[in-house]
Amino acid sequence: MKNNKLSIDRIAFIGRTFAEYMKMFDLDEDMLRQGPVLDCPAGPSSFAAEANNRGINITACDICYDLEVNDLSQRGKDDIAHVFDKFDEASHLYIWNHYKNKDEVIAHRSKSLELFIGDFSQGLKEGRYRKIEFPGLPFSDRTFSLVLSGHFLFLYGDRMDFDFHVSCLKELMRVCSGEVRIFPLVGLDAKPYDYLNDILSILKFNDISVEITKVPFEFQKGSNQMMKLYHNDGG
Ligand SMILES: C[S@@+](CC[C@H](N)C(=O)[O-])C[C@H]1O[C@@H](n2cnc3c(N)ncnc32)[C@H](O)[C@@H]1O
Repeated sequence: MKNNKLSIDRIAFIGRTFAEYMKMFDLDEDMLRQGPVLDCPAGPSSFAAEANNRGINITACDICYDLEVNDLSQRGKDDIAHVFDKFDEASHLYIWNHYKNKDEVIAHRSKSLELFIGDFSQGLKEGRYRKIEFPGLPFSDRTFSLVLSGHFLFLYGDRMDFDFHVSCLKELMRVCSGEVRIFPLVGLDAKPYDYLNDILSILKFNDISVEITKVPFEFQKGSNQMMKLYHNDGG
């Protein structure tokens, strides 16, 4: 049976690897080394763990980071199972060139979870993992030179309202001195977020510049773009 969207019943605790982040946010390591980086919400992404092994300073945040490590591991496994149980109905909404098939995607998500879990307890002690609840962030203004937010805003636009999106974007900008990058700009139906133009107007009104640029990654059909935000005063 075909479905017109990936019909999952919750915001999945599922994450991507460092290599996947580099493509979906069109990053290079020099950029990451320029200053503190925030990944928010990070879920069980291994981006922070792998970056830390390379000596790069990343803080990762998520609403689930107050759970015990065993519970995070179980939640991650359950959500991989939940998402990929629903996946066949929606696989026509995806492009199969970065990954050969569903099993390969599951292998990447599982590797990310494994690396994240292996790093979490130590990273929590070091303050590299922080529990947060959007839209509020417990950081001072302009703390991070780069802020990344993947697979949350816009993607789950069917269950988080417009005002929540605006509040989150303003808060991500508040804690950022340089650039905020958001990916993807489409929903679980692989269609562009309905209120993108309204978001752009509000950001402009708040003295924030926006660029939408192409990235070297496309898995959901048509989702090869990210949004970059800057303060008009240059940070
Ligand atoms: C799909 S994951 C994103 C993982 C990662 N950024 C990536 O691209 O692979 C979405 C995350 O949003 C988190 N989340 C949901 N609601 C939240 C909220 N109100 N505040 C903070 N995190 C939230 C979930 O726990 C989940 O881990």
